Amino acid sequence: MATPLIILAIESSCDDTSAAVIKEGVVLSNLIATQKVHEQYGGVVPEMASRAHMQNIVPVVSVALQQAGITLNDLSAIAFTQAPGLIGSLLVGACFAKGLAQSLQLPLIAVHHMQAHVMSHFIEDPKPSFPFLCLTVSGGHTQIVLMENYHSMRVLGETIDDAAGEAFDKTAKMLGLPYPGGPLIDKYAKEGNAKRFSFPISDMKGYDFSFSGIKTSILYFLQKEQKKQPDFIAQNLPDICASVQDTIIRSLMKKLEKAAKELGIKNVGIAGGVSANSALRAALQAAGERNGWQTFIPKFEYCTDNAAMIAITAHYKYIEGTSFADLSTVPTARAVW
Ligand code: KG4
Ligand code: ZN
Repeated sequence: MATPLIILAIESSCDDTSAAVIKEGVVLSNLIATQKVHEQYGGVVPEMASRAHMQNIVPVVSVALQQAGITLNDLSAIAFTQAPGLIGSLLVGACFAKGLAQSLQLPLIAVHHMQAHVMSHFIEDPKPSFPFLCLTVSGGHTQIVLMENYHSMRVLGETIDDAAGEAFDKTAKMLGLPYPGGPLIDKYAKEGNAKRFSFPISDMKGYDFSFSGIKTSILYFLQKEQKKQPDFIAQNLPDICASVQDTIIRSLMKKLEKAAKELGIKNVGIAGGVSANSALRAALQAAGERNGWQTFIPKFEYCTDNAAMIAITAHYKYIEGTSFADLSTVPTARAVW
């Protein structure tokens, strides 16, 4: 009997330390240690993130192996996130993966984090068929990606400044909410009126986005209203959250719909941390019904950063057989793909 393909994957690009085990394309475990240390600072502190990864990585990998019922000797390859991300955070995962690969004499697979967010759609059924159009929205990126097969992905458009998740988080900070604010805006927006306030959003050419302007307009809006009514935020939190969320989502959906229509694509999905947003999920479903799309949204635990998405990407890279990293591979903070 052939030896099963079993891969240990490590994700450490930002503030989540995660390890997953995948066997023949089936995820057996996906452990995520979220770093709470950043909450008090209102954003990720890179130096602290690296230190927390150093503390978490051994226990997270050990429990991931244990939960999967796998020992180090069963592994076929080690995968890690190579880019993009915080360099200190990436280095922890990369060094750990390299050390393990060398000591076990196993192949090493370097994975692009944004490619892995798109690949999160291939962890569970139903899986998209090709061509597949994916809006990837996270704290650091906002992209429309065209996937033609497992190994060909093309970025059709992206943000020219802030990411959509950053717009959520920075708005939350202005509203006095803790980091990461995206999920809290989602929560308060459920009780609010999305049409109460309006914010302008830049319409970029093609399939690109811009989210830096909305931040400034929210800041000026809040300053103006607070001058008239000092407790304006406390009195209007749900309506502010719903209005901001609606503006961001309309901007995202407009470009996604434009791309799908112009390219004639019927398999459309969302991925990345912001795809956990309930209004974005509902907007995708509504657009799917309007346009006759088959829509895809990853399971909640595969939306935000996780090693299962690194593992599934590595699984297909291993099968392709041409993309093994060597031990001199270095992580990079930014990466084109
Ligand atoms: O993909 P991810 O976990 O990390 C990056 O690669 O950046 O995305 C994190 C981002 C944060 O900006 C967070 O606020 C946002 O995803 N996010 C949400 C929600 N859940 C997470 N934004 C809006 N609504 C949510 N429910
Ligand atoms: Zn991410």
